[in-house]
Amino acid sequence: MTTAALELKNLQKSFGKTEIIRGVNLAVGNSERHAIIGPNGAGKSTLFNLITGRFPQTAGEVLLHGQNLAGKAPFEINRMGLSRSFQITNIFPKMSVFENVRCSLLWSMGYKYNFWSMVGRSRDLTEGAEQILEQINLTNRRDLPAGTLSYAEQRALEIGITIAGGADVIMLDEPTAGMSHSETDYIVELIRTVTEGKTLIMVEHDMGVVFGLADRISVLVYGELIATGRPEDVRGDPKVQEAYLGAALEAEH
Ligand SMILES: Nc1ncnc2c1ncn2[C@@H]1O[C@H](COP(=O)(O)OP(=O)(O)OP(=O)(O)O)[C@@H](O)[C@H]1O
Ligand SMILES: [Mg+2]
Repeated sequence: MTTAALELKNLQKSFGKTEIIRGVNLAVGNSERHAIIGPNGAGKSTLFNLITGRFPQTAGEVLLHGQNLAGKAPFEINRMGLSRSFQITNIFPKMSVFENVRCSLLWSMGYKYNFWSMVGRSRDLTEGAEQILEQINLTNRRDLPAGTLSYAEQRALEIGITIAGGADVIMLDEPTAGMSHSETDYIVELIRTVTEGKTLIMVEHDMGVVFGLADRISVLVYGELIATGRPEDVRGDPKVQEAYLGAALEAEH
């Protein structure tokens, strides 16, 4: 059996006495696009925070390509090839679009390089950042302050920042939240192309996005996965219908 890109084993998290994540088991394969859905407050963002090392787990394990992430800081996990975006837009608004991408590239290269080799690399950095701008279609916005971009463009920039370090596991928390239909279609296509060949784990409320993009779906309800499977199987699962999807699909109409 090949090693999963990401594996969660009996993962648990409590805040004080309140159990928020109650023993989650999940294996996400290499190059799989996996969506995590579930009602507000189910613990989706908390799960992301456990996986990326922002919160320590109460019990259980997170394995990235078979390596246990226990005790690792978020930046160490990032340098092991896992990168995430946040539910709330998270860019430097006064810096240019180009500098936002360049900074994240620089940061992801870390302290491996000393100052002099860094100088030699500055052209690589510029080229790298420009390639990312091409990928996210923001070349013509290169020198604008990031804060002046439209909302959808800012989320595209954020996706660029997330993929900049070359991570092979990408986690996106509600990448289409607050977008119109056309903006959503645009971002979905962008996500599809920039994550080609990578492992994608995303939290998403828009069922059109989820069913259009995901190879498999997990449904989190009150800190527990009540189902994991292919979209058509999850859609037809009576447990899922009852706990979440019935209401979520109705809300779309
Ligand atoms: N740092 C924290 N301290 C205490 N409780 C927290 C903390 N972070 C989250 N929670 C609680 O954990 C529960 C799950 O929150 P979380 O943000 O993970 O849900 P979610 O599934 O991402 O919801 P949404 O769909 O609204 O984004 C909520 O009841 C929340 O209040
Ligand atoms: Mg959330």
